Amino acid sequence: MQHPTERLEAMRAEALKGGGEARIEAQHSKGKLTARERLQLLLDPGTFQEMGQLVTHRSTNFGLDKQKFLGDGVVTGYGKVNGRLVYVFSQDFTVLGGSLAEAHAQKICKIMDMALQNGAPVIGLNDSGGARIQEGVVSLGGYADIFHRNVKASGVVPQLSLILGPCAGGAVYSPALTDFIFMAEGTSYMFVTGPNVVKTVTHEEVTSEELGGASTHASKSGVTHFTAANEALVIEQAKKVLSFLPQNCEEDPARLAFKGGDESRPKLDSLVPESAQQPYDIRDAVTEILDADSFLEVQPDFAENIVVGFGRLGGRSVGVVANQPAFLAGVLDNDASVKAARFVRTCDAFNVPLVVLEDVPGFLPGTDQEWNGIITNGAKLLYAFSEATVPRITVITRKAYGGAYDVMNSRHIGADLVLAWPTAEIAVMGAKGAAEIIFRKDIAAADDPAAKLAEKEAEYAELFAHPYNAASRGYVDEVIHPRHTREKLIQAFQMLENKAIKPPRKKHSNIPL
Ligand code: HXC
Repeated sequence: MQHPTERLEAMRAEALKGGGEARIEAQHSKGKLTARERLQLLLDPGTFQEMGQLVTHRSTNFGLDKQKFLGDGVVTGYGKVNGRLVYVFSQDFTVLGGSLAEAHAQKICKIMDMALQNGAPVIGLNDSGGARIQEGVVSLGGYADIFHRNVKASGVVPQLSLILGPCAGGAVYSPALTDFIFMAEGTSYMFVTGPNVVKTVTHEEVTSEELGGASTHASKSGVTHFTAANEALVIEQAKKVLSFLPQNCEEDPARLAFKGGDESRPKLDSLVPESAQQPYDIRDAVTEILDADSFLEVQPDFAENIVVGFGRLGGRSVGVVANQPAFLAGVLDNDASVKAARFVRTCDAFNVPLVVLEDVPGFLPGTDQEWNGIITNGAKLLYAFSEATVPRITVITRKAYGGAYDVMNSRHIGADLVLAWPTAEIAVMGAKGAAEIIFRKDIAAADDPAAKLAEKEAEYAELFAHPYNAASRGYVDEVIHPRHTREKLIQAFQMLENKAIKPPRKKHSNIPL
């Protein structure tokens, strides 16, 4: 007679095989890992505890009764990443293409419910053909059950989505509801409908890569926050992001040990060029100011006129939002506004203080911007900063012009501290543009209009092309030598450590979406 444990071991062994050798081989030949291999890379050795390994679907439609796989195409459970508890699901493409139906969805919902109750992140490894077609409406219901939980968990526990294969239909909307999306180059795709449907409906010929590959979503749509050359690197990125975040919204991010020393950074003194028209790379300022090698840029290839990302300052996790003068002069446009607004809200949700580096000539004018909603999109950034209750500090490195001055975490919308470098220009607009408008008649009537313009430009610059007017009103708290920026920020965030703001009671806010 078979010993009871033999049956168990046999079932376990079967579950571990997923869709079988041939399909595992096929998965590997595409440059993809299996669901379990990915979990091995993600979780600390020996920490994974699987749940629902013996779950199967209950469908008999279209021969599914003869295609039952233990686990139903998704490996779920909990484990540790760098010693911290996380809940995970990892879809198994070797089983019915990782497609999702009732049982598969229930397994994911279970670990999401537990993550919410126990206050720990959810990490989803997605590799799925979407709703399991044979099971019909229960597949759609299963997706909606997940979406609903994604939204409930949003802002409570971090949710990370790693896209490691094709994700079509419902398979893209759950990731879209989470905090961060990661994609592997060449092997992962996200689209609502694939190239075949696109061709039928719009007659467009497009490849999967062009339509929804990693570089498309990194640079064109902004859907993905991170991409990497292979799955192992994607998983490393996800672990790094997690290190900047707390377990849940009630906690602060872990702080690394920090031994203070000479925090002066003399290189910053010569970063801003003499001419206000000349660009410089704001990332040079970011990396000088942050702890060495700590900067992790988010969405680096999308809306490059604004740089956002995580880093550490004196061991503390911070979010950086910085205008990028080296790209479109750092102007705020639709994409930059939305990118930064989303990042500010993510940081605020998870108690990550904000550092804002400001060098912005204003909002980008024009029909393209207006017709695509720069009013609403710019308002998103204004709203996100205004609403944020985390400690937030602005450093004006050069231009702070027009509405963008207000929007970029000004004192008026709740910045805790505003510092300015001596190169700061805080005004409604640049001196030349201002002179052309307010002295138009004088210039036109002058014997030498060019000389008159130059004279008026100098007059305006004298009054506003510096930080001292704003400082005299207290809009700027301190004008500092650039080299002292890092130490000032470290001290200021220490000072703000116990900041507590109680927002007025409301059901929820109404950000202009
Ligand atoms: C059932 C599926 C499946 C699905 C794939 N498979 N997708 N089974 N339901 N949705 C099965 C295939 O039949 C195949 O089984 C195996 O998985 C591997 O698939 P292949 O096509 O051989 O792999 P590949 O060439 O890599 O192509 C992967 C793919 C393609 C791009 C994902 O399979 C595909 O286009 N699938 C359909 C995608 C889709 O339209 N999903 C429904 C979206 S609607 P065999 O046994 O033949 O090897 C949706 C609604 C939710 O999700 C909406 C909520 C808002």
